[in-house]
Amino acid sequence: QSPEFEVKSVVDSSNDRVKELAKEGPLEAGFSIFAEAQTAGRGRRGKKWISPFGNNLYFSVYWPLDEGIHGAMGLSLAAGVALAECFTDLGIEGVSVKWPNDVYIRGKKVTGILVDLETSPEGAAHSIIGIGINLTMPEHVGASIDQAWTDLNSELPQPMSRNHIAAQVRASVLSALQQYEQHGLAAFQQSWRRYDCFLDKPVKLIMGQRVCLGTCRGIDENGALLVEDEQGVRRYFGGEVSLRAQ
Ligand code: ATP
Ligand code: BTN
Repeated sequence: QSPEFEVKSVVDSSNDRVKELAKEGPLEAGFSIFAEAQTAGRGRRGKKWISPFGNNLYFSVYWPLDEGIHGAMGLSLAAGVALAECFTDLGIEGVSVKWPNDVYIRGKKVTGILVDLETSPEGAAHSIIGIGINLTMPEHVGASIDQAWTDLNSELPQPMSRNHIAAQVRASVLSALQQYEQHGLAAFQQSWRRYDCFLDKPVKLIMGQRVCLGTCRGIDENGALLVEDEQGVRRYFGGEVSLRAQ
């Protein structure tokens, strides 16, 4: 039986709504909140997710972490690959994933994933996987996004109902989370290589003031980014790292 979900009109951030509910009492794995609009949609490191009312998808999924937060690094990668596969199955060409949390269509950002991790004083841990998907982004609102973006309705070969897309993406993400729980990132390695926009390409890593150059070699078994330079292959972990084309 599929976990429950709630649909809200306007929220600050759907991740924060799930966070609040998790404080109030136990939630079922996979419980989700969908919002029509967000007034404080978040990306990584305090960045904003532009979330106008209308025809986009903003939702967050509650997922307990029985092994604690150690294995959580791969969650956004597993969800990203699942969404890339889902968009491809809907007939879109040129879908790719960018480590650690974005889905692109021919170089334009269509989806962002934000994973919040929480631990209780008793040691239990859970994650909140927040997903923003542009379906139809009004041009005048999109103009305030400071990088190339697109929406699914501009990319789909034929129009598709929002409910249909919402159901498909939710099912894909839930199934990916289950797979991740059972098999870890191993279940996604092959797919990640297929969709990785930078695999074997020259990349630039930005870490605060520091910039490193190298060639992207994909991800390791835990989801760390692998980049090769003259010294060999180094591992980079989510947090402060931004990956760009060279
Ligand atoms: P990185 O995490 O590697 O630094 P990033 O710059 O894409 O990559 P994120 O935190 O992943 O940063 O995403 C937030 C960014 O996404 C915003 O700064 C903005 O450039 C872009 N963005 C915000 N809203 C949208 C949207 N609705 N559609 C597409 N892109 C958006
Ligand atoms: C990113 O690209 O950095 C991640 C963006 C994640 C946006 C989604 S929209 C639903 C959920 N609620 C939020 O405040 N953020 C995520």
